[in-house]
Amino acid sequence: MRPRNDPAQYDDLVAEWWRPRGAFAALHWLAVARAQLVPPATGMPLLLDLACGGGLLAPHLLAPHLAGYRHVGVDIGDLATQVAREHGVTTVRGDVLRLPVRDVCADVVVAGEILEHVTDLELAVSEAIRVLKPGGTLVCDTLADTWLCRLLLVTLAERLPFVPKGIHDGALFVDPARLRALCQERGVDLAINGLRPRVRDVLRWVVHQREDVRMVSSRWTGAVYQGVGVKR
Ligand SMILES: C[S@@+](CC[C@H](N)C(=O)[O-])C[C@H]1O[C@@H](n2cnc3c(N)ncnc32)[C@H](O)[C@@H]1O
Repeated sequence: MRPRNDPAQYDDLVAEWWRPRGAFAALHWLAVARAQLVPPATGMPLLLDLACGGGLLAPHLLAPHLAGYRHVGVDIGDLATQVAREHGVTTVRGDVLRLPVRDVCADVVVAGEILEHVTDLELAVSEAIRVLKPGGTLVCDTLADTWLCRLLLVTLAERLPFVPKGIHDGALFVDPARLRALCQERGVDLAINGLRPRVRDVLRWVVHQREDVRMVSSRWTGAVYQGVGVKR
């Protein structure tokens, strides 16, 4: 049994990345909602996908208005980056707390489901914004630092057979107001909204009548939420 929030767990789960009903099913649903915040590509802009995992964002960047992006992913996991490469992502192995990327090079920085895994949120936000060009867009989604989120996504979720045990450490969950303040201090005004799965889709997914679940935007940011902002 690995320690809670150990990134090596993703190596153990490498076969799960692209299974629509596997351990990372919800990450597929979130990738759709994330892509909706990415601005249209003009020219060949660089999209830096922090903690890209198995590259689940890749198919969504094939939409006609996003197809111009050069999709570069950074992840600490060797096996995850291999999987992402197989799905068309150019990958770099690295830590989001010390990005192996030069300043102001990215047109879009995406940080999907990583901020709740880092031990130094301030440094992760600083790094994400350091590499973003002025006028570039930051897109992120993460889990809220609330007791309800910990109850739903750690205590209860980990009782489900398909949810990996110990994948999250609730102590690292992210307060939306703090995230907004950290971004604002570094030049990005983040607009935040909550996300929840559409209940009807979940029920149909459970009985195998659907292969995906749509996420619905909401004002309540007490569990899963996403943010988007442009760097001044
Ligand atoms: C929940 S997954 C999210 C993957 C992807 N963003 C997605 O939404 O499909 C978290 C990912 O973060 C990576 N990770 C964890 N800590 C990291 C760090 N300090 N630097 C870079 N990657 C990290 C893991 O290897 C894993 O691929």
